[in-house]
Amino acid sequence: MNDVIVVASGKGGTGKSTVCICLSVALIKQGKKVLLIDCDCGMRGLDIMLDMEQDLLFDASDAVCGNCTFQEAIYQSRNNQNLYLMAAPFDTENELSPSVFKQLVRAVKGSFDFVIIDSPAGIGSGFVTAAAPADSALIVTNAEPTSVRGGVKVRQKLEAMGIENIRLVINRFDRKVFRKLGFYRDLDEVIDATQTRLIALVPFDIRISVIMQRGAAGLDPDAINPVFDCLALRLEGERIPLLFKG
Ligand SMILES: Nc1ncnc2c1ncn2[C@@H]1O[C@H](COP(=O)(O)OP(=O)(O)OP(=O)(O)O)[C@@H](O)[C@H]1O
Ligand SMILES: [Mg+2]
Repeated sequence: MNDVIVVASGKGGTGKSTVCICLSVALIKQGKKVLLIDCDCGMRGLDIMLDMEQDLLFDASDAVCGNCTFQEAIYQSRNNQNLYLMAAPFDTENELSPSVFKQLVRAVKGSFDFVIIDSPAGIGSGFVTAAAPADSALIVTNAEPTSVRGGVKVRQKLEAMGIENIRLVINRFDRKVFRKLGFYRDLDEVIDATQTRLIALVPFDIRISVIMQRGAAGLDPDAINPVFDCLALRLEGERIPLLFKG
């Protein structure tokens, strides 16, 4: 299948990295082999969230500079044999160009069922690089106007880059808070405002945050919220309802 999916958002902190990891673990539960690429140059975090910080010697920029082979920049999780990580460079000086990153992904994607790319927030050069190799995109938004506006900007940028398979993930949803804030009448209004088809509605769940910050995502696949199993199945084309109705 070799699907390459970029996970993006206009506004920072919407939950891109969290979605990348939880989705990867859900895909692995369904028998897939997944390469996660952290493309948030200078601000990488997936290595911490996966408890792989100590394992990494090389990152994506080492692979393209010839400091190591492409394969040597890909690390297998100690906790999950079907989960692999390529880290982003530590500093922004080593940011990759879109064409170079595209070549890198093209060279390695054949060994995996899915390549999931975590991107920096916004529509700057780092985002353009992250999205360059993608066949499809997930836009992660929270149900708030600033986040939604960012989502629309990202969508427009993705479309301008020729990526048309774009789906929406509404993350950290809490119906009580949503009603209290009153920004939108209902969820349909949020979806309409983003002009993007919804593929997952993820609840605000403090356990998701705790698991990520403890670097334990790879440890217990069953600890991942079941909405991500649903997201993984829907990405694979299954016509199943959203699990969480909020
Ligand atoms: N569904 C959720 N429920 C509760 N907390 C969440 C949820 N999703 C993410 N979080 C928390 O929200 C914070 C931001 O998440 P995350 O780092 O994944 O966002 P991001 O979009 O990758 O941020 P950045 O733009 O800085 O890269 C983290 O503390 C994370 O644990
Ligand atoms: Mg992030």
